[in-house]
Amino acid sequence: MSFIDNIINEFDIALKTLSNKKSGTSRGYPAEESPENLTQEEKDLSIQLMRVNLAGEVAAQALYRGQAMVCEDNEVKEHLINAGLEETDHLIWCKKRLDELGGNGSLLNPIWYAGSFALGAIFGSLGKQTSLGFVEETEKQVVKHLEKHLEKISQEDKKTIKILETMRADEDQHANEASESGGEELKDYTKKFMSMTAKVMTSTSAHI
Ligand SMILES: [Fe+2]
Ligand SMILES: [Fe+2]
Repeated sequence: MSFIDNIINEFDIALKTLSNKKSGTSRGYPAEESPENLTQEEKDLSIQLMRVNLAGEVAAQALYRGQAMVCEDNEVKEHLINAGLEETDHLIWCKKRLDELGGNGSLLNPIWYAGSFALGAIFGSLGKQTSLGFVEETEKQVVKHLEKHLEKISQEDKKTIKILETMRADEDQHANEASESGGEELKDYTKKFMSMTAKVMTSTSAHI
């Protein structure tokens, strides 16, 4: 593909992601279709958490696409695109759950996409080991974040719990695969920068 074709393709994927029209793998929705009886307070908490998770999954899409776009190693590129497809499942599940709970996604999702795409492209251009190290660290931070949500959420919201547990297992696997493929550990200040950026995104997305 030419440079222009690439840009058009990436715009198309970004629009599909943001309008929830991108398809992922063939996996089904992890939360069973069972009746539930949540209080409004429990629902509101789950909506807030899932808004944050949806924003995170939008960012994950963009990080993977940005890295894949600049990646010169075909094997790593394929790894990034495949992991990105599982992130699309997460995106679809978070949106579906938010719809079920009667909540909306963050208005800032397009901004998170654009910023994360740029960040992915920057780390992706620093070479294979750094790029994979970036994936590993991102996924590890996401696992910790999901664990906090699993502690916070009402134990009555079994559907959301099931989704979060499935996502956590996937993210953990993404981190391990990146490490096994040759990811190198990032510097402490880089890790700190990443967690600070994530904090801005998660705290804002909960409300706007
Ligand atoms: Fe994810
Ligand atoms: Fe992941």
